[in-house]
Amino acid sequence: MSESKTVEAILAEARGAVASSADATEVEALRIKYLGKKGEITAILKTMGSLAPEERKELGQVVNKAKSEVEALIEEKKTQIENASKNSRLAAERIDVTEPGIEIPAGTRHMITQTIDEIVSIFSDIGYSVTEGPEVETVFNNFDALNAAPNHPSRDMTDTFYITDDVLLRTQTSPVQVRTILTNQPPLKVISPGRCFRADTPDATHSPMFHQVEGLLVDEGVTMADLKGTLDLFAKRMFGEDVQTKFRPHFFPFTEPSAEMDMSCFKCGGAGCRVCKGSGWIEILGCGMVHPNVLSVGGIDTDKYTGFAFGMGVERIAMLKHGISDIRLFYENDIRFIEQFY
Ligand code: DAH
Repeated sequence: MSESKTVEAILAEARGAVASSADATEVEALRIKYLGKKGEITAILKTMGSLAPEERKELGQVVNKAKSEVEALIEEKKTQIENASKNSRLAAERIDVTEPGIEIPAGTRHMITQTIDEIVSIFSDIGYSVTEGPEVETVFNNFDALNAAPNHPSRDMTDTFYITDDVLLRTQTSPVQVRTILTNQPPLKVISPGRCFRADTPDATHSPMFHQVEGLLVDEGVTMADLKGTLDLFAKRMFGEDVQTKFRPHFFPFTEPSAEMDMSCFKCGGAGCRVCKGSGWIEILGCGMVHPNVLSVGGIDTDKYTGFAFGMGVERIAMLKHGISDIRLFYENDIRFIEQFY
């Protein structure tokens, strides 16, 4: 029975091959090799037609048994391989639900933004609306319309970043006053936060880019008393009900009279400390009654209307309020600094 021996040999080889196969492709290749249309076992089955009935019966049993065994082995192997891959995926995707979660650090508004928001909210409470102007301004809006003398030192190239002869990076938020006056009729009551630029060398108190908040109020019968009352209220809301304010004469081209407002030191109450450099007072902002020349730019009737304006440095206020000693800290984005102001 040479054929039945061959069947045994094929069977032995198939057992070994299936057992040592490692993946689905290999198993499929073995199925084709033994059981496919041209497979080795199929080939023997095909020869049986030419055998004598006795032989055919005997061989038939052997071959069919072999065929069933190989089929079963292959099925079993396939299932094994599938299960193994399922298990390894399960293992890979295993989650230990008892482990503590990973804390994702929450972001925060920048100290400058927080300070602007605080200033704006105090003025919003008393009826001011917020308006914004562009950082790239005309020389007209930044200087000429604000009554700055043609030879005013702030116009100098060493102080101002010029883009062309007529266009610059605004050195103050005051040009928003001009934009407001040019496009609106009194009564006006606006506040305008934003970035300003000056050709300063950075040090602990100077930065070529910084922030201001501008304020403008124009209406009938507005006096210096309104200005003082408004800014005194602001100082108290911002730094505490106990602070006192005083107004020192000063000069700004766009206001007349002009003043700087000082407040009593919110740290020492006026006794003198490091924050107020021993004087008991802290300079906090510039202000004044809007110069008639400025109102006239917008065609406002200066017999009927008067107004006041003020401007303050956001960095300076934030530094005072939070005891920050170097303006450059605001722009370095050092997380150790930033996260102190959550
Ligand atoms: N623009 C001034 C500055 O940059 C600040 C200022 C002072 C604004 C007086 C005003 C004002 O509106 O009335 O230093």
